[in-house]
Amino acid sequence: MEERILIVDDEEMICHVMSRRLMREGYSCATARNGKEALHHFYKNNFSLIISDIRMPEMDGIELLKKVKAVHPNMLVIMITAYPEIDLALEAMRLGAYDFIIKPADLELVAMSVKRAFEKKRLEEEVEVYHKNLERLVEERTVKLQQAYRTLKKAYLDSVKVLAEAIDAKDPYLRGHSDRVRRMSLQIATLLGFSEERMEILEYGALLHDIGKIGIKDEILRKPEALNPAEYEMIQEHPLIGVKIVEGIDFFKDKIPMIRNHHERFDGQGYPDGLAGEHIPLEARIIAVPDAFDAMASLRPHRKAMSLEAILFEMEEQKGKQFDPNILEIFIKEKIYKA
Ligand SMILES: [Fe+2]
Repeated sequence: MEERILIVDDEEMICHVMSRRLMREGYSCATARNGKEALHHFYKNNFSLIISDIRMPEMDGIELLKKVKAVHPNMLVIMITAYPEIDLALEAMRLGAYDFIIKPADLELVAMSVKRAFEKKRLEEEVEVYHKNLERLVEERTVKLQQAYRTLKKAYLDSVKVLAEAIDAKDPYLRGHSDRVRRMSLQIATLLGFSEERMEILEYGALLHDIGKIGIKDEILRKPEALNPAEYEMIQEHPLIGVKIVEGIDFFKDKIPMIRNHHERFDGQGYPDGLAGEHIPLEARIIAVPDAFDAMASLRPHRKAMSLEAILFEMEEQKGKQFDPNILEIFIKEKIYKA
């Protein structure tokens, strides 16, 4: 694109020689006698650069500079000034002039300053385009990455759900148990004000809390009669078997406390570690409540399903014994069991 330069000087001769010199460089030039005339040209035409004298009749160069910059802050302006007016030249620089040249203006110096000004402009435009491209690229990549992350997360959750269903299938009376425990645990956690990140860990932990049952014989899990003490002891190994299964897999590290400690009791009489009260990880205390509820609500081989009133009565009895009283209260008050 051809660069257009507006030359402003009250001396016609200066305008003339300057435009002739700059036209030799391939620029097209227009001239004006004072600021007012220049402004008139400036509003009507597209200029890429203005060269202006400072002291002129009607409107001086400083005034012109202010008016031009108000409309077009990036406009390149070179001021021409007599030596005694150096203060004005400095003020022009403060107002955003690109350069100033002392009178009598050396034409080579003017041509060089113009060339440098355009180079600076070109560089700035290039940098801007580059930045815009970069921003767009980052934005595109971010969107793609977020989509991929969501897909991956969903795939992860889906496969863990399949695994949870496989765990539940070991015990035909507990079909859908893990998913119900997951749902109820998440509701309790919401009421406790869990962060999104902590909720996610809890979600996986609730789904997988019984993963250790994979290592328990089906005959025991499916036994129609009540378990004898030896069998009961074997069942009690499932939290530690679960830990063994997921140990060493990074993804499961923060779910281990739920797998290990969901059978602890608030009074310290649970297993495998006999932890009490707040020593039991909060996530494990949460899971323990819906886990017990859902087990009682399911048909068991050796007994009929209990009525809701009977279950809630039984659970109330265990407040502060088997269950964290605070969590049990939320569970019953907020009717989480209806989830
Ligand atoms: Fe369990």
